Amino acid sequence: MKQDLLTFTNWSKDNLQALLDSALDIKAHPEKYATALAGKSIVGLFEKPSLRTRVSFDIGINKLGGHFLYLDMESGNLSGRESGKDMAGNLGCWADAIVARVFKHSTLQTLSENTHVPVINALCDLYHPCQALADYLALAEKFDDLSSVHLAYLGDGNNVAHSLMIVGAILGVKLTIATPMGYEPDSSIVDWCQSAAQSSGSTLTLTNDVNSLKDVDALYTDTWISMGDSTPLEQIKNQFQPFQLNETLMKQSGAQWAMHCQPAHRDLEITSKVADSEQSLLLLQAENRMHAQNAILLWLLAKN
Ligand code: CP
Ligand code: NVA
Repeated sequence: MKQDLLTFTNWSKDNLQALLDSALDIKAHPEKYATALAGKSIVGLFEKPSLRTRVSFDIGINKLGGHFLYLDMESGNLSGRESGKDMAGNLGCWADAIVARVFKHSTLQTLSENTHVPVINALCDLYHPCQALADYLALAEKFDDLSSVHLAYLGDGNNVAHSLMIVGAILGVKLTIATPMGYEPDSSIVDWCQSAAQSSGSTLTLTNDVNSLKDVDALYTDTWISMGDSTPLEQIKNQFQPFQLNETLMKQSGAQWAMHCQPAHRDLEITSKVADSEQSLLLLQAENRMHAQNAILLWLLAKN
């Protein structure tokens, strides 16, 4: 049976660790994988803009000997000209996998249910799993044991926060999510992660008090307003300002590393000083998108 990558919630700790190991091996020995996707074609359907995801899939697939076809759906939702159901069925006639960035998670489920090829979530309203895998790959390169790492996320309890929580809870990473009041992560995802964290022996703490962050290894932030959200910045800026990733918070929390999935809004959610500092993992995270996604593609396509 085909396997998709929509959320990572159906992955075991051992399989996630194996996926990280595979990504590290692809990164260290690219020559071993130069024909790993020879003859395979992967379609990218993007309802929203992208730099990192689009380019890292395209170039990454090329490095594995495969072919990436980008379908620009940015002018409207997938269902504009024909239904997502019909699109998925047709794409499965030619493509070996579908990578999709969509507004609604339900669109990914429709694609998955109507095609026999794997569907990979390249960001939706609720999750960004490829990002989270790349982020933990970056941390795995900095720390010997992820289960001894304390990652604190600051800002909006959004898709990036959800995927960091899911993958982190499975891997046994200690997590703290600090958000302004009213911007907490989705409560059903929090419940799922609390139970996963209990199984892996880690903890997930939610707080609205940014000054409570202590003994942190890495501080992570993302945009305060995600794609598709038309809230004016002025409306939320004051509430989010204390959650800015800046030098003061790095020192106060004890963090060694600063993280951001990018695109970054400099001197809003992260200061330029931190983003450009020696403590910044931003470019390592971006680089690792490609290696993480290549590991995902090999895993899913090998299972078919
Ligand atoms: N981090 C990330 O997904 O970047 P893009 O939106 O540029 O793809
Ligand atoms: N939370 C952001 C992530 C961008 C990579 C968004 O959804 O726009």
